[in-house]
Amino acid sequence: MNVAVKNEKLNRWIKETAELCRPDDIYVCNGSREEYDQMIAALLKSGIAIPLKKRANSFLFRTDPSDVARVEDRTYISTSSRDEAGPTNNWVAPGDLKKTMLSLYAGCMKGRTLYVIPFSMGPIGSPISKIGIEITDSPYVVINMHIMTRVSSRVLDLLSTDGEFIPCLHSVGAPLDKGQKDAAWPCAPIERKYISHFPEENLIWSYGSGYGGNALLGKKCLALRIASAMARREGWMAEHMLILRLTNPEGKQYHIAAAFPSACGKTNLAMMQPSIAGWKCECIGDDIAWMKVGPDGRLYAINPENGFFGVAPGTSYSTNAMAMDTLKDNIIFTNCALTDDGDVWWEGLDGEEPAHAIDWKGHDWTPASTHDAAHPNARFTAPASQCPAICKDWERPEGVPIDIFIFGGRRTSVVPLVFEAFNWDHGVFLGATAASETTAANIGAVGNLRRDPFAMKPFCGYNMGDYFQHWLAMGDKLGSKAPRIFYVNWFRKSQDGKFLWPGFSDNSRVLKWICGRIEGKIGARETPIGLLPKEGDLDLSGLEMSAENMKELMSIDIHAWKAEIPDIENHFSTFGKRLPGRLRQQLQEFAKRLG
Ligand code: GTP
Ligand code: SPV
Ligand code: MN
Repeated sequence: MNVAVKNEKLNRWIKETAELCRPDDIYVCNGSREEYDQMIAALLKSGIAIPLKKRANSFLFRTDPSDVARVEDRTYISTSSRDEAGPTNNWVAPGDLKKTMLSLYAGCMKGRTLYVIPFSMGPIGSPISKIGIEITDSPYVVINMHIMTRVSSRVLDLLSTDGEFIPCLHSVGAPLDKGQKDAAWPCAPIERKYISHFPEENLIWSYGSGYGGNALLGKKCLALRIASAMARREGWMAEHMLILRLTNPEGKQYHIAAAFPSACGKTNLAMMQPSIAGWKCECIGDDIAWMKVGPDGRLYAINPENGFFGVAPGTSYSTNAMAMDTLKDNIIFTNCALTDDGDVWWEGLDGEEPAHAIDWKGHDWTPASTHDAAHPNARFTAPASQCPAICKDWERPEGVPIDIFIFGGRRTSVVPLVFEAFNWDHGVFLGATAASETTAANIGAVGNLRRDPFAMKPFCGYNMGDYFQHWLAMGDKLGSKAPRIFYVNWFRKSQDGKFLWPGFSDNSRVLKWICGRIEGKIGARETPIGLLPKEGDLDLSGLEMSAENMKELMSIDIHAWKAEIPDIENHFSTFGKRLPGRLRQQLQEFAKRLG
């Protein structure tokens, strides 16, 4: 071990873990630039990191083809009773799960180094921040954690001898025998992967995957699954939400938090540059919001992360220029394609397709190939501070006051571009019944419509029925200071399969309407599903869009909505007694409005 650790609990945990996992070496990280450079140098030497000639200090990694996204089927919320985890989570009793995992962890780090990563979610030392310690045997995880969280020896100083932290144990699950050559991307087969959470003891155990949310344990595991359970106990909120600041031409600021499921547009909206004159958008966070009621009774949000782990395909100067400008240097790319001149490439990037590239699996690719060059869940890991649209207040310890909540998802049909909830309870109903087509951010079928309440189905660390109740209780606490709630769908398609709405920068037009509603300056038409823009109220100036398409985008097909009712009933029935009566009532009222 390179340094002595003063915190007793941590010291004991490192010792116990080393005895269990049997690493060759132990290294305690300090988060320095030198440390990052040394890790990169080692990864380059072993041929795992591919340097990019076109971007300074930037590297490409290719994962094993089986290890390309989160694994919801292998993700567990292990509470003492099954009912505490609820119907949306996989559950195994803590004793049984620990037994299984302990046998997997036994000797799992042989031939590898055990890294201890002290990190803070939220600014180091801020009262809202949480300290985690990740133990991992993956150098790729170490460098990603350097960007995605605040890794520092100051965290260990803060912990002192008896400070509390959230232990996050991770192994790729691929021990090496003496002399055995390492795999290019070590990991375990799917049936031996476990992403486990023990919310009753604030503990995370992950085994078998090296990718994204499975392995960077500060993100989904700590900042959402464990934090959501803490938030409920302590009366705050941990949500799968971007945070942005919108400033209108008069200089008035609005803070918006929006929950869309994975790969449904959070990063893009968070960095969006408005296409309408005089409006400004700044990014505070692109994936996770922690929110607490402030002294003035309003809801304040911070972004607990330090970087973006963003979807690469579809990112371009025409869709997300701020992301493109963030990606110029100091970036880790994963599962993108490699061009012959030493740059990364992915589907949807500006300009022409390269005549030749190496695809994400390391094979030759040309435009004639029948498969994508980049994996659809290829990602960039980028420091948030490098984003030209980052808000100067993004690290403000007290957070920013949220005016507006937006829910949404990917719906090819049925759901119009935007509508407003009648009131808080109706807004919670919209969040609780949100549905979206599945994406490549999880291993499994893509394009299947499923209920993904509040975009938290994969991330809620307790019974989702209780989570709904927590939302209702937060609304009661906030009273007249509660954010107003809206629902959007950028993804509705025409009969011929084309997106009806241009999206991206033009989503500012929708946000402008939403702000108009907040100001009481703009009316709305009441429909059974909620309050929709009146004709002419959405600012469409300079937009070339046929009246016919606009009509289709805003249309409400009562029959299609009625067809949702049995599915919502079914969804709600899975929560049994834990479904709040107020939501059952919302459903009844909705059915009545539909007639
Ligand atoms: P996670 O990081 O998985 O949580 O995803 P995310 O919610 O941040 O999604 P992201 O912004 O990365 O977008 C995912 C995909 O949707 C990308 O390919 C985007 O190009 C595409 N996308 C985002 N916004 C829009 C939009 O307004 N319209 C259309 N058509 N596509 C969009
Ligand atoms: C998501 O899937 O919502 C992500 C990517 O943000 S991951 O970190 O892999 O969870
Ligand atoms: Mn996400």
